[in-house]
Amino acid sequence: MAKSKNTLKLKFDSARNLDPAPESAAIAKIADRYELFINGKFEKPSSKKYFDTINPATEEKLSSIALANKADVDKAVVAARNAYDKVWKKLPAKERAKYIFRISRIIQEKARELAVIETLDGGKPIKESRDFDIPAAANHFFYNAGWADKLEYAFPNRNPKPLGVAGQIIPWNFPLLMAAWKIAPALATGNTVVLKPAENTSLTALKLAEIFQEADLPPGVVNIITGAGNTGAELVNHPGINKIAFTGSTEVGKIIQKSIAGTNKKATLELGGKAANIIFEDAPIDQAVEGIINGIFFNQGHVCCAGSRLFVQESVYKLVLQKLKDRIETLIVGNPMDKNTDIGAINSKQQLDVINNYLKIGQQEGSEIFQSSCALPKKGFYCKPTIFTNVAQSHRIAQEEIFGPVLAIQTFRTIDEAIEKANNTAFGLSAGVWTDKGSKIFNMTSKLRAGVIWANTYNKFDPTSPFGGYKESGFGREGGLHGLGGYVEV
Ligand code: NAI
Ligand code: MG
Repeated sequence: MAKSKNTLKLKFDSARNLDPAPESAAIAKIADRYELFINGKFEKPSSKKYFDTINPATEEKLSSIALANKADVDKAVVAARNAYDKVWKKLPAKERAKYIFRISRIIQEKARELAVIETLDGGKPIKESRDFDIPAAANHFFYNAGWADKLEYAFPNRNPKPLGVAGQIIPWNFPLLMAAWKIAPALATGNTVVLKPAENTSLTALKLAEIFQEADLPPGVVNIITGAGNTGAELVNHPGINKIAFTGSTEVGKIIQKSIAGTNKKATLELGGKAANIIFEDAPIDQAVEGIINGIFFNQGHVCCAGSRLFVQESVYKLVLQKLKDRIETLIVGNPMDKNTDIGAINSKQQLDVINNYLKIGQQEGSEIFQSSCALPKKGFYCKPTIFTNVAQSHRIAQEEIFGPVLAIQTFRTIDEAIEKANNTAFGLSAGVWTDKGSKIFNMTSKLRAGVIWANTYNKFDPTSPFGGYKESGFGREGGLHGLGGYVEV
């Protein structure tokens, strides 16, 4: 026993004592100031106002971003409408496809720079932006480009027609990927776009605007307006848009739903989650532990489908808990630009406050907290990977979305109990099942109320598969054929 503890300690120390391996920031060309991207050009905001975007890992300012007001939003919507009427809807579909393919190619060419900017602006580990966010963004353009001239096969005998101008509002957790996720299917189906990135992470969307220029995308086909919630609300309420696509908090999703009620605007909303990972005693335990670690600590837990609840069958509870604790000790937390970092910076001070508040609530509710013993950098916004045990179903940490590296663990005895507990939530975005038995997987997937269910894996994404939720997690699907459906009238 003593021996294995020592080996473990050695392992932690060696993981933490790796030489720094920072990615160079030199490749990132970040301007001192960014304007609004309207009708193919960068334009000064009529508000004359700018706000700072900072690096959450260091709290240093990266750039100033234009703040779009009502007049700016109107300009962008008018540009999108003109481009729709005069250019985009008249263009043969295969010509549309060429632009989208070209955008995908340029993203690939600039992948390294985009990954660095994504990490600097948002705090996520470079290995994640490099290996996941940016390649996936390019893939979404590529996949949707292929559909542009084949829509009659996607929707056979249904005569699919574009909706017109799409207003799109995205969050800060996967900035470029969310932009791609929204823009690519809209363009492929012949719509034009006004996109508002999240105020903390506008830079890669503005880089994408430069890519649109480089790709010669006709002016006005995509417009990018920056700003916070007020700018978003102006876009939602603009009478000139035909569709609103939103990803973000359930709270704002509800506001949007109210504001468009009684209008002809279509909507897809992708909101919060409180996903359950369920481990049965017959699961491949080591693989499951890895999947659970990935499910909740990937991107600092800033993932709507994060596996933030864990249900472990009682007979393997002790074993799983020990393995999770050991694994958490080996996670490298810190400088997101370091290629070895597993957990980077929390995206903003505001989000860190939210998470820290839940850490307090969890303890007040009577749960037991376990955190990695790692040291956190002095500057910047960081949170230690955290697990809670002794959690009750009614606890707020088991019911509310925390959106941070915090896992709430509970146990179960029978399948029915696992299903009942997992479904006992206002959300229904995703879930994970870990077992050796195929029959158990099918049984679970038919009874769990979640849009996406992973079996013996977690957080697997692909442009060809649809994604979306039940209940308060929103409605509509993004990705795959279903994702195109949100942008056509049939
Ligand atoms: P948020 O919902 O306020 O922000 C998402 C986007 O909506 C941003 O672009 C924001 O500027 C915009 N927005 C804000 N208010 C708006 C309004 N009234 N009308 C139109 N657009 C508006 O999310 P926030 O405040 O950044 O994060 C709060 C919580 O939301 C997080 O702690 C997390 O639980 C959840 N969240 C979920 C996400 C998901 O992927 N489903 C992504 C981001 C946050
Ligand atoms: Mg907000």
